[in-house]
Amino acid sequence: MSRDGIAELARRRGFLWLSFEIYGGAAGFYDYGPLGAMLKRRVEEAWRNFYLKEGFYEIETTNVAPGEIFEASGHLESFTDRAVVCKHCKSFFRVSEGVDVHEKCPECGGELESAGEFNLMFQTRIGVPKGERDEEAQKKSEGYLRPETAQGIFLNFQRLLRFNRDKLPFGVIQIGKAYRNEISPRKSLIRLREFTMAEAEVFVVPGEKNDHPRFDEVKDRKLWFVPNDGEEGEKSVEEAVRSGIIANEYLGYHIAKVEEFLERIGIPQDKLRFRQHRQDEMAHYARDCWDAEFFSDRYGWMEIVGVADRGDYDLSSHASHSNTDMGVHVQMQAREGEAEKAKVIPHVIEPSYGIDRIIYALLESSFYEEQVGKEKRKVLRFKNEIAPIIAAVFPLLNRDELKNKAREVFQQLRNESIFVEYDDSGSIGRRYRRQDEIGTPYCITIDYETLEDDTVTIRERDTMKQVRVPIGEVKDVLVVAL
Ligand code: ATP
Ligand code: GLY
Repeated sequence: MSRDGIAELARRRGFLWLSFEIYGGAAGFYDYGPLGAMLKRRVEEAWRNFYLKEGFYEIETTNVAPGEIFEASGHLESFTDRAVVCKHCKSFFRVSEGVDVHEKCPECGGELESAGEFNLMFQTRIGVPKGERDEEAQKKSEGYLRPETAQGIFLNFQRLLRFNRDKLPFGVIQIGKAYRNEISPRKSLIRLREFTMAEAEVFVVPGEKNDHPRFDEVKDRKLWFVPNDGEEGEKSVEEAVRSGIIANEYLGYHIAKVEEFLERIGIPQDKLRFRQHRQDEMAHYARDCWDAEFFSDRYGWMEIVGVADRGDYDLSSHASHSNTDMGVHVQMQAREGEAEKAKVIPHVIEPSYGIDRIIYALLESSFYEEQVGKEKRKVLRFKNEIAPIIAAVFPLLNRDELKNKAREVFQQLRNESIFVEYDDSGSIGRRYRRQDEIGTPYCITIDYETLEDDTVTIRERDTMKQVRVPIGEVKDVLVVAL
């Protein structure tokens, strides 16, 4: 697809709009239009169901938190990016995206110089500080917008543990907004200042990380690995864990699950790889990290999910800063085969998904154009599981008797909670093209035969094949497809 084609289609069809557009917009902020919001909701729903089926609990915690939380989590000190500034045009750039101080300004070719480290968190005030001169009160009212959803899960760890009847392992998910004051957000949904994360935190006994109860279910899955040292290539998850490329079974299991999810919603497997972080790019809390990267025709390889082994960093740190006991009593196998009680701080394995980058990857990789007769057909080949609209209902011609029947069928399907659209404007060919372009898998057409025998045609988006089906069976065809 042409470089700007996807942005143009997304804007024109109501997927994505620049935020604050009538005031000139602001870098790093996008709104989802009606189709984009629906697509995003369906991706989030698929993600939620995927992890709930795995037995995870879902919680929802706040977006704003007092400063002391981020002092404990290390974000106040370490959640920083290095920046360079152009001496000529004064543009700022984040160091690490093919830009550093020895290069020329990507905007104007001017000379760059270091602009230091920037903390990426947005600061705010919580309430009104009691006395303006009272430094302590001022400090206490400092708040921040969360840069990840994970902290809300760690802060509730004791309650969650009790909820799980004091047993390990268990997992908790959260979907919600995260905020990062990115230095130079120039890449549509890839680098936003407000974005949606879907994170899973798995709490496990440190000595049991190499013993995932369901490892066998994923062990034969083949992935493309790019390890920190050593050669990249395709390996089964089992080979990667046994040969030490991946440090433990828990990490291997969750890397495999990330790939399974991405494939299920329609990210092509041949555009995915798993790249291990170098020591110097690892987040302050991580001891190991693998990124699921998507190959974008426009931006090259880009991270869409990070899978980190956070060890006991967060729980230990919150334990000492808040004076709370985060230890868990577990049974350990003693040498003679006898069980013995021990107290441990759980380790955390964390798959962290960026929903907006996934939406971008879906839009880009689902799009194709083909010549049909004299026309170019543009199609978003969304999987049924995430398509914003599952079917469109059309009267073949603009006649009242056909329109009435089509509205009736449309309403019946909506009453069954199947999200269909009604359209009677323009030629039937144009209506098909419009639905192809927004990724609707089926079009249902009502014609004069319908009035005689209560049958309709269902046309499938990718093959354009049509079948004739009794109205009573349309719902079943769509539900099976879903
Ligand atoms: P990058 O190196 O590209 O800045 P990151 O390593 O900071 O990414 P993580 O902190 O691992 O990203 O965040 C987890 C996920 O959240 C990422 O895989 C990505 O999908 C998403 N994400 C992070 N930052 C942004 C952003 N500014 N805009 C949109 N999505 C983001
Ligand atoms: N929770 C993952 C991250 O913020 O990087």
